[in-house]
Amino acid sequence: MTSKINIFDTTLRDGEQVPGCQLNTVEKIEIARQLEKLGVDIIEAGFPVSSPGDFESVVEISKTVQVPVICALTRAVNKDIDVAADSLKYAKKKRIHTGIGTSELHIKHKFKSTPEDVLKRAAEAVKYARKFVDDVEFYAEDAGRTDNEFLARVIEAVIKAGATVVNIPDTTGYCLPGEYGEKIAFLVNNVPNIDKAVISTHCHNDLGMATANTISGIINGAGQVEVTVNGIGERAGNTSLEEVVMALKSHHSLDFETGIDSTQIMKSSRLVSTLMRMPVQPNKAIVGRNAFAHSSGIHQDGVLKHRQNYEIIDPADVGLKESAIVLTARSGRAALNHRLQILGYDLNTDELEEVYNRFLELADRKKDISDDDLEIIAGEKKQKGKPPIELVSLQVMCGKSTIPTATVQVSFKGDVFTETASGNGPIDASFTAVKNLVKRRVRLEEFLIQAITRGSDDLGKVHVQIEHKGDNYYGFSAHTDIVTASVEAFLDAISKIS
Ligand code: KIV
Ligand code: ZN
Repeated sequence: MTSKINIFDTTLRDGEQVPGCQLNTVEKIEIARQLEKLGVDIIEAGFPVSSPGDFESVVEISKTVQVPVICALTRAVNKDIDVAADSLKYAKKKRIHTGIGTSELHIKHKFKSTPEDVLKRAAEAVKYARKFVDDVEFYAEDAGRTDNEFLARVIEAVIKAGATVVNIPDTTGYCLPGEYGEKIAFLVNNVPNIDKAVISTHCHNDLGMATANTISGIINGAGQVEVTVNGIGERAGNTSLEEVVMALKSHHSLDFETGIDSTQIMKSSRLVSTLMRMPVQPNKAIVGRNAFAHSSGIHQDGVLKHRQNYEIIDPADVGLKESAIVLTARSGRAALNHRLQILGYDLNTDELEEVYNRFLELADRKKDISDDDLEIIAGEKKQKGKPPIELVSLQVMCGKSTIPTATVQVSFKGDVFTETASGNGPIDASFTAVKNLVKRRVRLEEFLIQAITRGSDDLGKVHVQIEHKGDNYYGFSAHTDIVTASVEAFLDAISKIS
């Protein structure tokens, strides 16, 4: 009989812990709504005691989301559990996720404690959380490096204390697939009350094994998987939702199913990437730009003869449509709105007007406007308001045997400032002019330009990461002129320095 695997999405908790990926409450609600459409079973909405913003987000997501269980993370600390319970008060279905480190390393060097004390604290936390909710998940942090005998004792104790789900995180992404699967099998075979709880996987990708470890966990008895959209998460990330879902869907012989509507995968991926300003690597499995692109002649020929010659997944199954080029400068507001609605955007009159103006601006420079272009324009609209520092004009002089020079004009609080600088290229010259204008010591840490559909008239998307006084700030922009996009992205990041 086919077994159902519960999808526990932690994009808004573990994913959001990534520096620079922080979202405001409105953005989190938008992602939570999309996760609901995608069909996840549980949404981990935040770590409420960690900040007032996290608390508010859990409250607001609880009010908005109808079907999935809303989960809040805590440490094995009563105060954390009190705050989590409070944040979940509006949730239709609620879960508290509490836990403690169980590996020798964590016990000795994090808690400076003993295994017996950790075991006691684990059970007490679960018991305390059960006073507030019926659904309590326990995580044994660093279970990947925890001795299996001790882990089994902890798991038995927390199930006895009332845990309904037991999470076995490979917190450091250390395990190999066989090893992680054996750990799950060990618990299945050695914890006497294991049938009273669901086992959950939670794998990190430090060695690139997160998806393999998760699948191995499922094969060996896990009934829930903890994942994030695009595999976003601390360091090398968490297990990516789309990889696990499509692996199970593609391998019928495994006989597992999920409640995910896979046609919502691409849309979820783009939304998370746009709002978190975290580009998806082009060769990322399932959702990367090249995931379904066949470039060699032999492959193209093979796919045309029979798609399955070189494709194991029908792109339509993950919601990938051929970029339908339907709009030009002559298209009106109604056509634009119709297309945006197909893409899932529901804009009010003012928003539509703004997007329409941006669309006309782009259509003046680019003959055909694709769905990808529209996603960028509509995505920009989702970002909050006007940036405090705006690019008014940009003039660059560059070319062979010319010293690249840029004149940048920006407006800040109604005043316009101008600066000219030279550099080793047009972008370097423009950035130097901006730095001279804003008079802040900022260091460019990362700079990424991506074309969307690869034509020479294409929109270039630019992501930048800057460092100022030890903190990182991220900026994004898209424009057919990559120097303009770069300066706008740079200003976007600088605008975030309070
Ligand atoms: O990786 C981890 O151990 C975690 C826990 C807090 C669940 O994210
Ligand atoms: Zn984690």
